[in-house]
Amino acid sequence: MGKAEGRNQTPIAEFVLLGFGNGPELQPLLFLLFLVIYFVTVAGNILIIALVVCDQHLHTPMYYLLGNLSFLEICYISTFLPRLLASLLTGDRTVSVKGCIVQLYFFGILIAAESLLLAAMSYDRYLAICHPLRYATLMNGRVCCQLLAGCWISSFLLCTMVNIYTFQLRFCDSNEIDHFFCDFSPLIKLSCDDTHILLLFSFSIATLGTLVPLRLTLTSYICIITTILKISSSTGRQKAFSTCSSHLIVLTVYYGTVIVVYVVPTTNTPKVLHKIFSVFYTVLTPMMNPLIYCLRNKEVKESLRKGILKLVSFGNSYRR
Ligand SMILES: *[C@@H]1O[C@H](CO)[C@@H](O)[C@H](O)[C@H]1NC(C)=O
Repeated sequence: MGKAEGRNQTPIAEFVLLGFGNGPELQPLLFLLFLVIYFVTVAGNILIIALVVCDQHLHTPMYYLLGNLSFLEICYISTFLPRLLASLLTGDRTVSVKGCIVQLYFFGILIAAESLLLAAMSYDRYLAICHPLRYATLMNGRVCCQLLAGCWISSFLLCTMVNIYTFQLRFCDSNEIDHFFCDFSPLIKLSCDDTHILLLFSFSIATLGTLVPLRLTLTSYICIITTILKISSSTGRQKAFSTCSSHLIVLTVYYGTVIVVYVVPTTNTPKVLHKIFSVFYTVLTPMMNPLIYCLRNKEVKESLRKGILKLVSFGNSYRR
């Protein structure tokens, strides 16, 4: 308990999230920027869900997983962006300690579920490309539901285990968090309890939660790429690759930014740079996902085109 010595012991009830500083010219600009990002993300992901639910051609495990990923992205970005928008608008940057930990809890569950879901999507592509003949028996609606349930339950359990401890922490040092949302490490630094064991525990869980899905994903893609390279006709090769290229781009964006945030040392880089990287991995990945699928995936593009045509003809007949 050496950490507590010599510190002010009055417990803190509220944190101040410093966000992006308090330059008065910057706030409206940032508000607009994040509002546009939030709107595009939610609208784009709702569009994907609507296409997957409404279009019969997209009723396959691959697109069910995609629809569920879009749903997850909406929840994920909604755990912190609305609060950031409100504080940019009103200038009120305080958040209660309990509120902060609850935000951290949901954020953790969703980010863990996302990396597991991305791994499940790679597994689906792996079966489709490396075992095409057995695909229909190995991957069906039931297996797809089981994979999804597995993702949600394990991320829920892992985050609950960490947060049982976080909820019991006392905070009494300083109440300023130099970040734009309640992230784990800035929060833990403010505690006046002994956090060594919690840090070790959460570090192991975070490593496990990142490395296991990353390994599954990499293994799937190594098999996929070797299989694709063995296909002799170039049109066949292109066709096989086109079904997984969108997912590969989403994966690269996700893991690329996560790795940059964790590998770039935080002690020597300026805080601003760290915040900008955090924006990339928290805000931009959910926004990129629908854009990539709508622009690159043939079936999604086709479904979108048909949907728009239907809407237009519906509008015309309504007007007549
Ligand atoms: C999520 O997955 C389930 C089970 O596979 C599926 O029935 C559902 O339609 C999916 N949700 C979306 C929004 O795609």
